[in-house]
Amino acid sequence: MQNIDRLLPILTGQPVIPVVAVDTADEGVNLARALAAGGLRAIEVTMRTPAALDAIAAIVADVPDAICGAGTILNPDHYKAAVKAGSKFIVSPGATVELLDTARDSEIPFLPGSATPSELLAMMQEGYEILKFFPAEQSGGLAYLKALAPVLQGLKFCPTGGVSPDNAKDYLALPNVICVGGSWVAPKALIKAGRWDEITALAANAAGMGA
Ligand code: 3PG
Repeated sequence: MQNIDRLLPILTGQPVIPVVAVDTADEGVNLARALAAGGLRAIEVTMRTPAALDAIAAIVADVPDAICGAGTILNPDHYKAAVKAGSKFIVSPGATVELLDTARDSEIPFLPGSATPSELLAMMQEGYEILKFFPAEQSGGLAYLKALAPVLQGLKFCPTGGVSPDNAKDYLALPNVICVGGSWVAPKALIKAGRWDEITALAANAAGMGA
């Protein structure tokens, strides 16, 4: 079973979940502050940099406005370490039996990725209702999700990968899309230059997309 009660409020609280990679804990804290100031409180810190776990712990400690999750969780060790660091939700590009077992034993909700109809049926059988759809654009994008909606009526998606200001609203308009994920609200160049106000402006624009 998926911990829907904990996951749903996070994913319905904002139309865009920032998917970020940071090189230091300080970057993570400044970024989380800047995004929350723009209205994007939930943030997915990906485990793609060695600083990810420190950044999650620092955000949890120093940015009470943020709801910090962990992304690019590829195995149970990642999952457990991210939970220990204080993550409030866990995101993976896919799902394995081991990850599902770990999620079952954890209070921290899991958003796994699934794309093909057979994968989706298997996830439904496991009691999952909300899934990441990754990489969204490369996997068939809007047309693919639209085709799934009448067939797999119980499922909702967070498409991520290739989602941008140009197509985010179209994804959000689909009946089976709950929110989208994207890195465009936290460009590396702005992070490195410490241009936090510009990140806040990008976040405010994204936060207004659900309306
Ligand atoms: C992810 O991990 O969800 C994606 O890499 C984010 O994709 P994007 O950079 O195309 O937004």
